[in-house]
Amino acid sequence: MIKNLGYIVLILIGVSCGSDKEDYIPIDQNSSLEFTIPSNFPEPTYNVTLNPPTEKGFELGKKLFYDGRLSSDGVISCGFCHIQDFAFTHHTHIVSHGVNGALGTRNAQPLHNLAFMNEFTWDGAAIHLDLQPIIPITAEVEMNESFTGIIKKLEEQPEYVKLFAEAFEDQKINSENLLKALSQFMIMMISSNSKYDKIERNEGSVFTAEETAGFELFASKCASCHAGTLFTDQSYRNNGLSINPQYNDIGRNRVTGLASDLHKFKVPTLRNIELTFPYMHDGRLKTLKDVLDHYSDGMVDSETIDPLFKNPDRTVMGIPMTEEEKNQIISFLKTLTDDDFVNDNRFSEF
Ligand code: HEC
Ligand code: HEC
Repeated sequence: MIKNLGYIVLILIGVSCGSDKEDYIPIDQNSSLEFTIPSNFPEPTYNVTLNPPTEKGFELGKKLFYDGRLSSDGVISCGFCHIQDFAFTHHTHIVSHGVNGALGTRNAQPLHNLAFMNEFTWDGAAIHLDLQPIIPITAEVEMNESFTGIIKKLEEQPEYVKLFAEAFEDQKINSENLLKALSQFMIMMISSNSKYDKIERNEGSVFTAEETAGFELFASKCASCHAGTLFTDQSYRNNGLSINPQYNDIGRNRVTGLASDLHKFKVPTLRNIELTFPYMHDGRLKTLKDVLDHYSDGMVDSETIDPLFKNPDRTVMGIPMTEEEKNQIISFLKTLTDDDFVNDNRFSEF
C-alpha cells in the first residue's frame, strides 16, 4: 500500500516537473477578465489599464494570497488573517496574529472594493494597492519574510514557474509580477450586491419600516464621514476613542508627522459591517450596539477629536441617540451585508 502511494507521488512529481515552457498556455491565449464597475459605484482609483486582470494573473494572485510560503514560518498566508466568510477580516482576533503567534497592534481590515480606495491601511501608510502587501510580507509580527526568500521558494515550485510564465509577458518570477498578481486578485473583489445596493439600483428590493428609519438617521448622523456608496469619505479622523495604553497607536500622525493628525484613523467603509466584528482600529468594540453606545455616550475629548462631535460651546456631545434609534441604525447597517460576495467561489481558497 505504502509502496503504491510512493509510486503515485513519483508519477505526479514526474508529470509536473516534465512540463517545460512548451506546455504553457501562450500569453496571447491568457484571456482577460472583465473588470465591471457597478452602476452605483464611482470610477476606480486603481488604473486597471496598467495591470489589466487576466485569467492567469488572477489565478496566480489567488494562489499567492492563500499560500503560507509568503511567510517565514510557511503557515501565515494573506488568507490566514483575511477570511472570506467575514468579508476578509481576521475573525475572533482583536488584533492580528502573525508568524509564531506574534501579535500585531491593529485589527485586520476587510478586503473589498479596494480598486476604489485612494490609500490603504488604517493610517494610509500605503499609497498604492500594488505596494500594500509589502507591509504584511515584511512586518516581523505578520509574515516576517523577504521578497528574495519568497522568490526562491516559488522558483522551486513548477506550478508557480508555469503560472508566472502564463500570466506575464516577461515570464519572470519577481516581486513586481508577484505584487501585480496579488492586485489582479484583489481588485476583482468587488462587493456590490447587498440589499442596500439592490435598492439603490432599483432592482426590486425594498427597506422595511425599521430599515428606512435607520437609513434616515444614518444619513443625518453618520454619512458626513461614512459617505457615499463606499460608506467612507476616505479621510482620517478622530472619532473620540480613548487612547489605548497597550498600543498608544498615534494613527495618521505616524505617516504625516503632523500634530494635527495625532490619533486620527481612516474612516472605514461600513459595507459588510455585520460580519467584520470586532470594531475600530484595535478591535476594542465587540458589537454594533457597543459602537453606537460609544458614539452616544463613550466619547473622550482630545485635541484632535472631530469637530462634528462637539456642540457650539466646544464640549463633546457625541451623537445623541435613543435606544430605539440605535436599533434602527443597526437594522439599516445589516442591509450592507453582501452574501453573494462572501460566498463567491472565485475568491475562495478551495
Ligand atoms: C498577520 C495578519 C495579516 C496578514 C498575514 C496579512 N494582513 Fe493584510 N491587514 C492586516 C491588518 C492588521 C491590516 C491593517 C493594517 C494597518 O492598518 O496597519 C491589514 C490591511 C490590509 C490591506 C489594506 C486594506 C484597506 O482597506 O486599506 C490590504 C489591501 C491587505 N491587508 C492585504 C493583504 C495581503 C495581500 C496580504 C498577504 C500578502 C496580507 N494582507 C496579509 C492583517 C494581515
Ligand atoms: C466625524 C466622522 C465620523 C462620524 C460622524 C461617524 N463615524 Fe464611524 N468611524 C469614524 C472613524 C474615523 C472610525 C475609525 C476609528 C478608529 O478605529 O480609530 C469609525 C469607525 C466606525 C465603525 C467601526 C468600523 C470598523 O470596521 O471597525 C462603525 C461600525 C462606525 N464607525 C459606525 C458609525 C455610525 C453608525 C455612525 C453614526 C451614528 C458613525 N460611525 C459616525 C468616523 C465617523
